[in-house]
Amino acid sequence: MELSDPTQLLADARTALDAAVDTAALADAKARFLGRDGLVTERLKLLGKVPAEQRSAVGKTLNALKQSIEALVASREAALRQQQLDARLAQEAIDVTLPGRGSGKGGLHPVTLTIERIETIFRSIGFDVADGPEIEEDFFNFTALNTPADHPARSMHDTFYVEGQDAEGRGLLLRTHTSPMQIRYARQQTPPIKVIAPGKTYRVDSDATHSPMFHQFEGMWIDEGISFADLKSVYTEFLRRFFETDQLDVRFRPSYFPFTEPSAEIDMRFAEGPLAGRWLEVSGSGQVHPQVVRNLGLDPERYIGFAFGSGIERLAMLRYDVGDLRLFYENDLRFLQQFNP
Ligand code: DAH
Repeated sequence: MELSDPTQLLADARTALDAAVDTAALADAKARFLGRDGLVTERLKLLGKVPAEQRSAVGKTLNALKQSIEALVASREAALRQQQLDARLAQEAIDVTLPGRGSGKGGLHPVTLTIERIETIFRSIGFDVADGPEIEEDFFNFTALNTPADHPARSMHDTFYVEGQDAEGRGLLLRTHTSPMQIRYARQQTPPIKVIAPGKTYRVDSDATHSPMFHQFEGMWIDEGISFADLKSVYTEFLRRFFETDQLDVRFRPSYFPFTEPSAEIDMRFAEGPLAGRWLEVSGSGQVHPQVVRNLGLDPERYIGFAFGSGIERLAMLRYDVGDLRLFYENDLRFLQQFNP
């Protein structure tokens, strides 16, 4: 076989491989020299026809040529891979000098801020904070709180009833007040019982000052000899700290609740400011009824104390000077952002 100049063949291969702009072109170029019918392969196949005395030298030359081309292919392959990587990096480059998209700062809802404020004050005077279910049993919401079967609060006009029953076949409803927490909490504790329970409550009611969902916090202090005087001092202290003023009067106005005896509405009056001089109702309260003390699991001959249930939106409206309760639930950022400057 005539071996055309191996140096020329190698130069041709180098030119062809260098011209390959991607891996497919490179594979073609490689095949042209090293493939089944490639220029080098063809010559290797004819090696048997080379006169015996030249065969070894020609063979060596061809093999060296083949290895050189393989090395060229490998280095061209590496170069192409690097090129591809560089191109991708350039394409995906992040311009760190662009301005950011910005991120809105979240904040707490005014009702949540108010609940936190109430909890902080009551914790500091030794009250525990408890939480309970919003879907409540008729028993805890009414019966255990001494509410008679024909009490108007139990009517469908006032209470959202939930379909179905609990495991014992008792009726379910959305709690109409936080007072069921008196029973639930006391049954798990031993006196002194000193707790507040803030949370959501529900009534069939909706206008500028009533929302079907609203918030209350229940308070209760039961021990040996806790009196109405303690209720007066605790609640007055709370209001003065909540509104950060001593220029505030508190009045206990006789009232009626089935679960307290005697019962009182708590009114307050600012001595200064835009609301000065007007009595504002902020809470129901009273000495816990002996039958309810029994339902707490305690002996009413020994244990006595007070309870109260206050509207949280009401306190938030007074503190932040909000005129319409519905603003709390419309999720208008212009309103909400004012509480998180
Ligand atoms: N649960 C009553 C209501 O929602 C408020 C209330 C009154 C709670 C007197 C009490 C209480 O604990 O002693 O109208």
